[in-house]
Amino acid sequence: MANEKRSSFSGKLGFVLAAAGSAVGLGNIWRFPYLAAKYGGGIFLLVYLILAVTLGFALMTAEIAIGRKTGLSAIEAYKKLDKRFGFLGWLAALVPVIILPYYSVIGGWVTKYLFAFVSGNGAQTAADVATFVDAEGATKAVSFFENFIGTVPAGLTYAEGFGAVSPWEPIGWFMLFIGATALIVFLGVEKGVEKVSKIMMPVLVVLSIGIAIYAVCLPNAIDGVKYYLLPDFSKFSVKTVLAAMGQLFYSMSLAMGIMITYGSYMKKEVNLESSVSQIEIFDTGIAFLAGLMIIPAVFTFSGGTPEALGKGPGLMFAVLPKVFEKMWGGQVIGTVFFLLVLFAALTSSISLMETVVSIVCDKAKINRKASWLIVFVGAVIIGLPSILGYNVWGEVKIIGMQFLDFFDFISNSVLMPIVALITCILVGFVIKPQAIIEEVELSAKFRRKALFVFIIKYAAPICIILILVSSVLDAFGIFKI
Ligand code: TRP
Repeated sequence: MANEKRSSFSGKLGFVLAAAGSAVGLGNIWRFPYLAAKYGGGIFLLVYLILAVTLGFALMTAEIAIGRKTGLSAIEAYKKLDKRFGFLGWLAALVPVIILPYYSVIGGWVTKYLFAFVSGNGAQTAADVATFVDAEGATKAVSFFENFIGTVPAGLTYAEGFGAVSPWEPIGWFMLFIGATALIVFLGVEKGVEKVSKIMMPVLVVLSIGIAIYAVCLPNAIDGVKYYLLPDFSKFSVKTVLAAMGQLFYSMSLAMGIMITYGSYMKKEVNLESSVSQIEIFDTGIAFLAGLMIIPAVFTFSGGTPEALGKGPGLMFAVLPKVFEKMWGGQVIGTVFFLLVLFAALTSSISLMETVVSIVCDKAKINRKASWLIVFVGAVIIGLPSILGYNVWGEVKIIGMQFLDFFDFISNSVLMPIVALITCILVGFVIKPQAIIEEVELSAKFRRKALFVFIIKYAAPICIILILVSSVLDAFGIFKI
């Protein structure tokens, strides 16, 4: 709210931890590894790292500085900088609205796995739990994950003894996850969750290092380590860059106004530039570790076939249980791991829901409870197609994609690049980079000033336009990239 005095984070550590808490989530652990596996391993990692220190650095600096300068959240902040850019706040606000529902679907998958491990059935998650008989009469195995979410290959019938997949299972776990998120937001106990997650986060890092070391020592994993770490330039394509860019925005909570809001709570004396570096290092470090836990193991268990590497959103759920199954004490380690991931996911979903609730509150001029109810019910309704798309609505496709993939595509590959592009234009040519530089230099000298100006004014807008246009043409099948 415009004139309210904002309470600030106590210092730099407080700010960095809060922003990193929002940044680290399923994006790092679930999304990054499956994209890296799918888009060529090392080349994806390289492109991602280059984008992180250029585009990511410039955009995060700009967003946090805009927040701190105006003291406002995104919708108001853009308007204050320039009246004509008020629409940008709305566009940015649309992103969390789209992400929250499908984020909670994945949160539901994590919850299901946690319960499987807690109840001592962790080994089951690594197994094939059903078989299908295809048209020719051959038997095909169906994994725990496929059976759970209900990805049933078309034209197959269940072998005797196996019931049809029920959509109620994934719906139930989704409801549990989003219900918990909503309850925490309703009761206003986010602070409590954040406190717990501050303890959990370092544990997650330590545990991830342990699991990653174990995973890279598995048989044949070395081929996967090479695939993940050594860039193969023949695998470079526009799609790799687009996927890496979308992932950068998603993982660092950029191009959706979130970092503006965080910036609005940042004290003027806190060093902005080094805060940005620390958040980026933290976020990228966890994503990198998650890749190391998952990608080499794909080579151990499935020989690194293109099919196994291109599994998509199910990759983590298919691979990690197999790693835990082999591991001594895997049942306990798996339980702790999924618990930590659940916490990381919850802090993100809470922050997503908070954001949407306060937008609805401010804009629809209704009270918080009413706005909460609208957001909760709305998110459930939008979330359901994402579940059913992998289940009984398997045949329904939007521009060739299932609902979950479509929501993911629209937010990460279309909306966020557009928001980022317009932000660059606003900063580069309307308010001018100098405005941001002055804000950054309130606390310390801006060391990468020249790089910042070059990226915001030229490199970023040109790259984003090229990638955006080619990817949208590709999605509609007009032009193949
Ligand atoms: N960055 C989060 C992750 O990697 C996801 C996310 C996107 C998010 N937008 C957000 C979290 C807004 C909190 C607020 O999981």
